[in-house]
Amino acid sequence: MKLIKKILAAQAAMLALWAMGAQAASDENIANRLKPVGSVCIQGEECAAAGPGAAAAAGGAAMTGEAVVVKFCNACHGTGLLDAPKVGDTAAWQARSEKEGGMDGLLAKAISGINAMPPKGTCASCSDDELREAIEHMSGL
Ligand code: HEC
Repeated sequence: MKLIKKILAAQAAMLALWAMGAQAASDENIANRLKPVGSVCIQGEECAAAGPGAAAAAGGAAMTGEAVVVKFCNACHGTGLLDAPKVGDTAAWQARSEKEGGMDGLLAKAISGINAMPPKGTCASCSDDELREAIEHMSGL
């Protein structure tokens, strides 16, 4: 009988510990869920929580070519979807560059769009420089 009581007590203690742990975990979850989804960032201020696109749109630091590619261009250029020249396939980009009269020509087509390629490669907020760097990053040219 004593032994059974001991076992029950031990189990109750375990259960209490487990419940406390679960409570702590859910408190943390609630804190995370209560965090604001976004924050307003004013021009000239550091926008720590904002994504790179938001920073560029707010007049902050420009996105790197790589960031633009990852966020916008990879959707098609990563796999060659719709016959888009692939990231890193320098030969394919070189041929296009020659046809368009160099990087400026490629940039012009990236801005206007060409066939299945949407204007600005879907990065409407991208500056010309950001697009140029993205093309340089994809093409290695
Ligand atoms: C929805 C798919 C899609 C996305 C997203 C996309 N592209 Fe393209 N892109 C294409 C396709 C398809 C082509 C080939 C078009 C053709 O020659 O018919 C292309 C071709 C190009 C070319 C070559 C144009 C030429 O004159 O030969 C450049 C430069 C380019 N893309 C830049 C970009 C940049 C920069 C981004 C990201 C900001 C981007 N693309 C995002 C589909 C896409």
